[in-house]
Amino acid sequence: MKELKIETILNVYDTLDELPKDVIALMAKASEARDKSYSPYSNFSVGTAILLENNEVVTGSNQENASYPSGLCAERTAIFYAGAQFPNVKIIRMAIIAGSKLKTTDQPIPPCGACRQSIAEYEVKQDSPIEIYYMGEVGKVVRSHSLANLLPLVFDNSVL
Ligand code: THU
Repeated sequence: MKELKIETILNVYDTLDELPKDVIALMAKASEARDKSYSPYSNFSVGTAILLENNEVVTGSNQENASYPSGLCAERTAIFYAGAQFPNVKIIRMAIIAGSKLKTTDQPIPPCGACRQSIAEYEVKQDSPIEIYYMGEVGKVVRSHSLANLLPLVFDNSVL
């Protein structure tokens, strides 16, 4: 028997102000997108802004449904839109901001597992890292150099 120890590296910033101006601006676009969230069931709203290599910014928010599983997270709304509109343009980074409408969310909210898997597909496809920043409504911001750092043991097309 061999034990595998998996390590990852994330950078944690105390406030958004510590980040470069262009990242702050991308997070502001994620926040604007979050205002457009349709989340009457969970009251949890999420916004995502994606910077592409051609300098386009694509945004998305979570879209819920009375049939709960039919809704979609902000990250996948945004990344599928990017894939549909700009199929061969690399994704440089994603900014994600999330929080409850019922209380202040002061902890960083990482993308859910299904979103990580979806983002992984594009990172593998483009063969270059997608940088990810995520936060709650206020407080600390987490940076991941790549999606891979958020999803060790990824399932990808190399096994098919
Ligand atoms: N949600 C996202 O948009 N992104 C995530 O990564 C986690 C969860 C949404 C889905 C649902 O509309 C609400 O947040 C509560 O789960």
